[in-house]
Amino acid sequence: MRDYRREIADRIAGIDEIAEAGLTPDEVYALVETPPDETKGDYAFPCFRLAKTFRKAPQQISRELAEKLALSLAGASVPGNNDGGSVGEGAGADETAAADASEYPAAIDRVACEGAYVNFFIAREALSRDVVAAVCADPDAYGSSDIGAGRKVVVEFSSPNIAKPFHIGHIRSTVIGSSIEKIYRFLGYDTVRVNHLGDYGTQFGKMIVAYRRWGKKEDVEAEPIATLLSYYTKFHVEAEKNPSLEDEARETFAKLERGGAEETELWRWFREESLKEFGRVYKMLGVEFDSYAGESFYSDKMDRVIKELEAKGLLIESDGAQIVDLDEYGLGKALIRKSDGSTLYITRDIAAALYRKEQYDFYRNIYVVASQQNLHFAQWKKALELMGYGWSDDCVHIPFGLVSLEGGTMSTREGRVVFLEDVLKGAVEKTREIVIAKDVNTNDVDETARQVGIGAVIFNELHNNRIKDYVFSWDKVLNFDGETGPYVQYVHARAASVLRKAAATSHTADPGAASATSPAAFAAGVDSSFLTSDSAFALAKAIYGFPAAVMDAGEKYEPSVVTRHIVNVAQAFNRFYHDEQVLVDDADERAAKLALVFAAKQTIQTGLALLGVEAPEKM
Ligand code: ARG
Repeated sequence: MRDYRREIADRIAGIDEIAEAGLTPDEVYALVETPPDETKGDYAFPCFRLAKTFRKAPQQISRELAEKLALSLAGASVPGNNDGGSVGEGAGADETAAADASEYPAAIDRVACEGAYVNFFIAREALSRDVVAAVCADPDAYGSSDIGAGRKVVVEFSSPNIAKPFHIGHIRSTVIGSSIEKIYRFLGYDTVRVNHLGDYGTQFGKMIVAYRRWGKKEDVEAEPIATLLSYYTKFHVEAEKNPSLEDEARETFAKLERGGAEETELWRWFREESLKEFGRVYKMLGVEFDSYAGESFYSDKMDRVIKELEAKGLLIESDGAQIVDLDEYGLGKALIRKSDGSTLYITRDIAAALYRKEQYDFYRNIYVVASQQNLHFAQWKKALELMGYGWSDDCVHIPFGLVSLEGGTMSTREGRVVFLEDVLKGAVEKTREIVIAKDVNTNDVDETARQVGIGAVIFNELHNNRIKDYVFSWDKVLNFDGETGPYVQYVHARAASVLRKAAATSHTADPGAASATSPAAFAAGVDSSFLTSDSAFALAKAIYGFPAAVMDAGEKYEPSVVTRHIVNVAQAFNRFYHDEQVLVDDADERAAKLALVFAAKQTIQTGLALLGVEAPEKM
């Protein structure tokens, strides 16, 4: 697809004075912005930076540039009055516009100056035509890229702890990570989805001790995680009164690490039961993994880490324990091995990074983990760097903010948690009620309730910048108005319904011919002069911006860029649908508008898919 910003930048860079001022086309490109107010233009070039070089007021520069640009566009004379007005109006349509005498209409319709800005108006017909053709030519690929071809990206996300509840706090890593992986895959990267299960560590000592003291097999079997959690909670209450429990737990974990049979069996059982619960949640969310190599996977790869740290002179003794001193980097001391010989979380993470580099030879190794672990990841990265691994630069921690409950923060120890499974089930149940009450158009109430209910939770999660803390509230998640998942899904279904209606009343004389409503028919070209109204053009522009939004989301590891973009597309679609009649009698006009409807529907569907949200055809 044509890069309008690039064409504008090249035009500007082609002006002699700009070249003489030493600005390269790429620098100009970076300066071109999108005005917040669409009526002011589709792109704008600010002249402030040129004031010094040109020794002129920015307003004067913008006026002179606008004049020159109008000339270069039209190859014709410029109207005399340039005081903030538009110059070269209609120039793009001028047959003398030699530079644009291709099969395409001109890219730029008109140039205007306002204050220190040169504003550009895109030729609407050209952009609408480009967008429709690009989407229809290969609908599912629209917005994708091959910039990642041949590069492997490991995305680690979710990584819950075994025998602990899979609670609402875990949804963040799960949903954000899954979306980042999907975005990277769409950009052509070869991705590996890793679940670094927290299935090892001293907490298993506690769990085993608690189970041995108070546990009942039947209870665990009936409701594994809730039961194990109650033991774990009890352990902490009891350990307050009786600190020797902590020693017992440490001892028990050490036995587990040495491969003690009884401990290992219990641990394996806890793990299995937990994975069943996680699996149910992943299935509901439509999330999958390529590897479940968690912390325990590295238990036999720890010696190598310790030996290597030792050999590189990084390990020092401190109170019988072994640490890496990172004080000089402001990162404190990283505890690598305790005095009782047991290894730690960070040791396993170092082992995991070495393993991943060897196993996958990654281009990037991404960790989607809460910002509470910033220090941990900073220490870990520094340790890898000090070990001499240049690729530590390719390891990125992607933090996100906290979720709290309306009455305070969550605490696994105190048993104050909201289980993710309950949230998802509740969302589906409540959505079902709404679907029935609103008499939503569907052949399958349960399926629609599932798609919309789960979609609402995921969308809510991915709507704000990931780093923002937020308070979990049922009301907000299930709010079906405003910028929510159900709203966007509804717009998608509405577009689908227009296309269905069009197909049913197709004007094609020959029923065997490619239907006039198929993307293939649209791709062959539509008369985009029917797509130049304010609302049609605004919709086309929103769709046009989608590939850049996907790219931006990837660069920033920020799915909310995609979320917000498809909200824009949905809003633009609604405006267009409200302002214009799509199923008109004129076959050309109808085909053009249907093509735009199709392009909007496809863009919303692809965007939702990148978030992990389904797009029902009916609603
Ligand atoms: N299991 C940890 C937790 O729930 C998260 C693991 C993050 N990943 C990692 N490689 N350290 O807090």
